[in-house]
Amino acid sequence: MILIDGKLLASEIKEKLKVEVSELKQKNIHPKLAVILVGDDFASKKYVNNKKIACEYVGIEQELIELGSDIIEEELIKVIEKLNNDESVHGILVQLPLPKHIDSYKIISIINPNKDVDGFHPENVGKLSIGCEGLISCTPNGIMRLLEKYNIDVWGKNCVVIGKSNIVGKPITMLLLKENATVTVCHIETRDISSITRQADVIIVAAGKLGLITSDMIKPGVVIIDVGINRNEDNEICGDVDFDGCKNKASYLTPVPGGVGPMTIAMLMENCVKVAKNISLYHE
Ligand code: GUN
Repeated sequence: MILIDGKLLASEIKEKLKVEVSELKQKNIHPKLAVILVGDDFASKKYVNNKKIACEYVGIEQELIELGSDIIEEELIKVIEKLNNDESVHGILVQLPLPKHIDSYKIISIINPNKDVDGFHPENVGKLSIGCEGLISCTPNGIMRLLEKYNIDVWGKNCVVIGKSNIVGKPITMLLLKENATVTVCHIETRDISSITRQADVIIVAAGKLGLITSDMIKPGVVIIDVGINRNEDNEICGDVDFDGCKNKASYLTPVPGGVGPMTIAMLMENCVKVAKNISLYHE
């Protein structure tokens, strides 16, 4: 089995971006990402901090806007509108999940789609689904880059996606279809998942369920991309795949941590630089 090293590819990408950012700065363009964090969810704070570290490394300026969990929707909308109109801000990211009283769809729809570095705005989601250029959500984009790096061709292959979230399951399905894969999407209501996963050449699992994929569910030589982030009984971070059980049967496998996670952040950095570069073209 070949271990897919997301940490390594992510650092290669960040290294390249670092050079591009310094070139942009010479043209007096200073890429800037605004991050909005509502409330004090522990995991969200950690994710936001990881994004901050990556920004510092690449040279992207970061503005963190922390808002109380009791903020009303209108106030949050005003904050986003201000960032939409701020020419010094290239990327806007609203960390999810938002408190229950706020309509996430409405909030994401307010973000200027050209600054939507998460690729969650309906315009960008729509562009992705018809194969048009737009900002692509970071985790699925990172998965495609990993497959490309390891020369894993999905053309005509049986790809099984587990999970139908807007953040991973649906967009990765669109990207795989764009590459002419045959895609089956399984989810919580799917009956007899094993009968489907056993046919898979590639499995992308984003279910958030510890140990969901076991060795009896896969065929020899399968490629497995594990998007899950869970904690086991020893409080260690683990994916959705029974790693030890599957490692001798799969041909390629992503570790958790060190697989998809670092790629998500690298793709976010890439999207920020892409927006800043587009602005630089506009000024030329
Ligand atoms: N919450 C979990 N994943 C993500 C992500 O990729 N972007 C944002 N904004 N929030 C998240």
